[in-house]
Amino acid sequence: MSNQTASTVTYAAVYAATGEPSEVLAWKELPLRAPGPGEVLVALECAAVHPSDFGMITGTYGKKRELPAVAGREGVGRVEAVGSGVKNLAVGDRVRLPEPEGTWRERGVFAEAACLKMPSDLTPEAAAQCLVNPPTAIRVLNDFVALKPGDIVVQNAGNSAVGRTAAFYGRQLGVKVVSLVRNADKLRDELVAGGAALVVEDNDDAPKAIAAFKGESKVRLALNSVGGASVMRLIKACDPNAVVVTFGGMVGDLVRFPTRELIFNNITLKGYWMDKWGREASPETLAAHFEAVYKVFRDGLPLPTDRIVPVSEVVSAVARSRESGRSGKVLLRGPAWK
Ligand SMILES: NC(=O)c1ccc[n+]([C@@H]2O[C@H](COP(=O)([O-])OP(=O)(O)OC[C@H]3O[C@@H](n4cnc5c(N)ncnc54)[C@H](OP(=O)(O)O)[C@@H]3O)[C@@H](O)[C@H]2O)c1
Repeated sequence: MSNQTASTVTYAAVYAATGEPSEVLAWKELPLRAPGPGEVLVALECAAVHPSDFGMITGTYGKKRELPAVAGREGVGRVEAVGSGVKNLAVGDRVRLPEPEGTWRERGVFAEAACLKMPSDLTPEAAAQCLVNPPTAIRVLNDFVALKPGDIVVQNAGNSAVGRTAAFYGRQLGVKVVSLVRNADKLRDELVAGGAALVVEDNDDAPKAIAAFKGESKVRLALNSVGGASVMRLIKACDPNAVVVTFGGMVGDLVRFPTRELIFNNITLKGYWMDKWGREASPETLAAHFEAVYKVFRDGLPLPTDRIVPVSEVVSAVARSRESGRSGKVLLRGPAWK
């Protein structure tokens, strides 16, 4: 082993029961051992706080961890030491912390094979957001409708990380992405600069505003991560035979549909889960997909950060991530942050 750390303990955000993060999440000391054969010791560089983290901790997400568990789904770190027989990773390499082990931690020892090597040319903020939201935006724009340049895609939560990526990547595809948001006047300029063709307030006037904008173009795809009344507005804005993809439910309400549009316009409602796609994709498909994600960051995808706090402050960071009016993601920095 090279560069063995002297430390025998580390710290992590642990929950022993599901529930409100403020009640169940605690910053705890955990034992830390030297990496064994085929293992690496990784120090956190940067981790993100996502809506699905909240779902995992509260127990409402589509999968659960065996408890007690370290929280956090997405984060990158730097290899600090390698065990014997490690072939593809070296000290200093940037890797993704394995999702099932939890990312909101200072350090961890993981199997080499579980640590996806990540490019070092991305900023830590970008690297820490490569594996959940931009991949989702890229997949939902590619996998449901064969979009042609000039087609219109409508989406809610247009200021979310997924929404910003969909607007940016959609513009690269030549499609016009219309973003519904809760504070259009405040967000319009930055979202248009980031790729949105139109930014409208997410209220009952939205379908009319979209109809006035679209001219001869057709709304062929709608992206819903909110639910409630918002998805009804997306469906009403769709042209016949459009597909409405639901991948999130920020209002925690049932996804409803207007019967009229479903019957007379032949609208299709579908769901999407990145985890399932990732489990089923071949290694070659996954590698090509992540190259596409790295490319949108290198092309300048603007994903603003609300704040970057030490990972030990994770409980207040989670609370902040639930507040409306954030200017971007809440990120956590670890010992490998430079
Ligand atoms: N299925 C999948 O595989 C998958 C993968 C990735 C993400 N997602 C989902 O995609 C969505 C966006 O994720 P993200 O990480 O990109 O989000 P994010 O950057 O953390 O932003 C959250 C977004 O949700 C909006 N929002 C929160 N509560 C809302 C409410 N009650 N009504 C309307 N809008 C609300 C926020 O609007 P304000 O700024 O106005 O508060 C903001 O636009 C989430 O639903 C997430 O679960 C799903």
